[in-house]
Amino acid sequence: MKTIELNHPLITHKLSILRSKDTGTKEFRELVSEIGIFLLYEAFKDAKLDDITIETPITEMKTGRLNEDNYAFLPILRAGTGMVDGVLKVLPNAKIGHIGMYRDEETFVPHRYFFKVPKDIVNREVIILDPMLATGGSALDTIAELKSIGVKKIKFLCIIAAPEGLKAVEETHPDVQIYAAHIDDHLNENKYIVPGLGDAGDRIFGTK
Ligand code: PRP
Ligand code: URA
Repeated sequence: MKTIELNHPLITHKLSILRSKDTGTKEFRELVSEIGIFLLYEAFKDAKLDDITIETPITEMKTGRLNEDNYAFLPILRAGTGMVDGVLKVLPNAKIGHIGMYRDEETFVPHRYFFKVPKDIVNREVIILDPMLATGGSALDTIAELKSIGVKKIKFLCIIAAPEGLKAVEETHPDVQIYAAHIDDHLNENKYIVPGLGDAGDRIFGTK
């Protein structure tokens, strides 16, 4: 499936602040959370609703409602947790799993150090959250792990993606729809996204 890129002046506006090296931790966190909501909005365009009937103060009407029990969020630690607040504002009853992953600074290979998910996760659509998709290594490992335990429906929400990583994930997992706020230009020699925003985890948590 081809990656869906949010193409909207509001996103460009928000990203311009997010990317700036002068943006501090508080504002950076708020923007990551906010852009997460825009990504979720796009990702739910194809969501199935249950038919229900309600009464407004004026009359009865037929409408639709989402069954929040059908979904789980899976932030990739650490940076993915920055997107959780926002998406939970929209779907407060979704369950949350966590996968811990760090990229080796020299080999760029991801190392998994934590995996804890809701016990009925295989019955849910899993929405992976990570602001950055660079080489795609962390995304590939996370998707493979979810599939190995039987998860059938997966979406991946990221803020900035590199073409190299997108190609790898699209080719290996054509069934996983990726949503990116922006697809950037390329990876540099340290596998950082260019122009990017630097190290998302460090900027969210103020660790550097
Ligand atoms: C960052 C980011 C992704 C990963 C992307 O995490 O949040 O998980 O790198 O790179 P990849 O596509 O090349 O795998 P990092 O490993 O820096 O860990 P952190 O979130 O704990 O800082
Ligand atoms: N991880 C980040 O946080 N930033 C990048 O540019 C690449 C990987």
